[in-house]
Amino acid sequence: MPKRIFIWDLPTRLFHWLLVLFFAASYGFSKLGNDYIDWHFYSGYGVLTLILFRIIWGVIGTKFALFSQLSLHPKAVWGYAKRLFLKREQSGLPRFAGHNPLGSVMVVFLLLSILIQAVSGLFMDDEIFTTGPYNGSLGSGFDGVMSLLHHNLIDFILWAIGFHIGAALFYKWVKKQDLIKSMVTGYKTGADVENTDGIQHSKWLVALIVALVCCLFVYWLVVLNAPIEEDWY
Ligand code: HEM
Ligand code: HEM
Repeated sequence: MPKRIFIWDLPTRLFHWLLVLFFAASYGFSKLGNDYIDWHFYSGYGVLTLILFRIIWGVIGTKFALFSQLSLHPKAVWGYAKRLFLKREQSGLPRFAGHNPLGSVMVVFLLLSILIQAVSGLFMDDEIFTTGPYNGSLGSGFDGVMSLLHHNLIDFILWAIGFHIGAALFYKWVKKQDLIKSMVTGYKTGADVENTDGIQHSKWLVALIVALVCCLFVYWLVVLNAPIEEDWY
């Protein structure tokens, strides 16, 4: 009977699949035109809340969710990629119970770029009736930069998500490692985790408190603290 090791806590898994949902909604609503701009904002606030949660969870979460577990050293990333693609080694690849070095780079890119996408949205203006809550608060030059980011970064994010999903399928079909199932169940089996100590529990109560704090913070940010605009009509 192969060992089943508990790697991904419930908060990390919930974060992932909610991010997929909210990101897809935010992107979808942005394409549906101005009638849906409010929904674009709300789902964007959801994305922002989730990313803030994950950043805090990366510092106080369970073992494999910690940022300190990421393997980001260029030597490690290059060495891993070389073995995976150039030598096509099926065995002898270094084992990672959490994210492997290529996965680590992707995690950082996705978290950072999606954070910038959501924050830049706060300064946007649809040039009709609707503006993000901080539009105009730091000057039109700043809004311009944010708008440039909001309109262009999205293409890089979509490409990265494409690679990300492609990589998950590559591991499943070619390397016979079902990382997707692990992101659903939290458990991993096989050589990668044979000699690894799994986590004991999900620290979900701590996660709940952190999630609540993140929700309150974003509510404060986009509603209570949003600069009040002059009523001109
Ligand atoms: C909007 C689309 C998506 C985004 C923004 C996204 C983002 C992320 C992020 C940020 C992580 C790191 C998780 C963490 O440590 O907190 C991750 C991991 C992961 N994602 Fe996604 N993801 C998306 C879609 C998908 C889809 C559709 C699949 C399945 C086909 C998938 C499969 C995985 C897997 C397997 C991992 C764990 C990788 C590993 O074991 O190193 N993702 N994703
Ligand atoms: C990660 C979350 C988000 C994603 C993926 C996203 C994506 C997009 C995309 C792709 C567009 C361009 C649509 C097009 O012209 O085809 C857009 C426009 C826009 N976004 Fe977002 N957005 C996000 C968050 C936000 C947030 C939080 C706000 C405001 C609070 C916001 C405000 C706007 C506005 C006002 C526009 C219209 C700009 C225009 O008409 O030129 N977005 N967004």
